Amino acid sequence: MNNFKFYSPTYFVFGKDTEKQVGEYVHKFGGSRVLIHYGGGSVVKSGLLERVKSALDDDGIYYVTLGGVKPNPTSGLVYKGIELCRKEKIDFVLAVGGGSVIDSSKAIALGTLYEGDFWDFYEDKSRIANATALPVGTILTIAAAGSEGSSDSVITKEEGMLKRATGGDCLRPKFSILNPALTQTLPAYQTACGATDIMAHVFERYFTNTENVETTDRICEALLMAMIHETPKVIKTPDDYEARANIMWAGMVAHNDICGVGREQDWNSHWLEHEISALTDCAHGAGLAVIMPAWMEYVYRHDIMRFCKVAVRVWGCPMDFDNPESTAKAGIAAFRAFLKSIGMPTTMQELGADEKDIPYLVKTLGLNGGKTGGFVHLDEKDAENIYKLALRK
Ligand code: NZQ
Ligand code: ZN
Repeated sequence: MNNFKFYSPTYFVFGKDTEKQVGEYVHKFGGSRVLIHYGGGSVVKSGLLERVKSALDDDGIYYVTLGGVKPNPTSGLVYKGIELCRKEKIDFVLAVGGGSVIDSSKAIALGTLYEGDFWDFYEDKSRIANATALPVGTILTIAAAGSEGSSDSVITKEEGMLKRATGGDCLRPKFSILNPALTQTLPAYQTACGATDIMAHVFERYFTNTENVETTDRICEALLMAMIHETPKVIKTPDDYEARANIMWAGMVAHNDICGVGREQDWNSHWLEHEISALTDCAHGAGLAVIMPAWMEYVYRHDIMRFCKVAVRVWGCPMDFDNPESTAKAGIAAFRAFLKSIGMPTTMQELGADEKDIPYLVKTLGLNGGKTGGFVHLDEKDAENIYKLALRK
């Protein structure tokens, strides 16, 4: 196991009706003038926004609102939010929504206290090390991106449609309110996209060259098994509170890095996917459902036994000692079949991209002759090959 530091100071408030306590937690973390940031309207329709406002009213907390965050959030609204926060002397950003809303909130929180262009931090991740940001709190409405417990934010710059991530301690939410009942209004497709993203966050960490990481291996396997067990339940019965609760917590544990510490991580599937969602505006989870199995197919020979471990321990495939490669492949096939069973796409064409888009996708990766990824280092040719594997045959 590698040396590591792990600091994950988010205060989690989990369970039914917990959003009623939002004022208490805004106070606890020093907020008195709040920006409530939300998305395209699901929180208006569900009545959650009104409940949040009245909870803040009850605690005498001033607020302004800014809605309109789109999935795969873009820079335009971030600039608007920064301007609003400065004008209103906002001291706390409250994200009410999913990963897109939370990431947009983190960008606004970062940009408000920075004299330059907030995009600087997304263009060059290293710049965030000494940065400060307004405190952010979240009320999560979809189990997926894990941004409620992560130090990351992913934004697309409209100019050039570049989707980039940044990450640093200053972006970890101060508190996150997780009420599984709030996710019961999700359409089955969004639920499945979220589940795919959660599983992908585990796989990105599971596939590693670091040896002797049994504890984190087993945490990863347990999370994957829980997702395989619980996801079909909520696809079938959207208001299954207990299954929603298990998935919501899995989404947080999958991405606050508890299952990634002490080991090299890969992240190539995310990196390949981000260019697709920037191009086609597909849901991030749907993009991963197409790219991740293709990536697995491309790299499994790098460590066949690691792929066998997943196949046997997670998917329950029999181990073929005479032909371990067939076991590894059976595990990848089981992952594909599972994704299909929950309604996820399996080809690039279903995401709105085609073979003709591949040169553009490869170019926007911005590799410039370099390589990336922790498990298998990929260059532009490898990226092109993986995109091709994801095409409809
Ligand atoms: O905008 P509204 O109307 O709220 O609708 C949203 C949106 O259309 C809807 N939705 C959310 N909660 C709902 C609901 N509809 C009904 N009932 C509810 N309770 O779902 C749609 C998707 O929402 P979004 O926030 O985009 O989903 P998700 O949480 O998957 O976030 C995706 C974004 O997160 C980034 C992705 O790249 C993508 O941009 N990621 C962020 C990460 C991080 N910050 O750590 C890591 C991830 O790997 C990921 O890259
Ligand atoms: Zn993801």
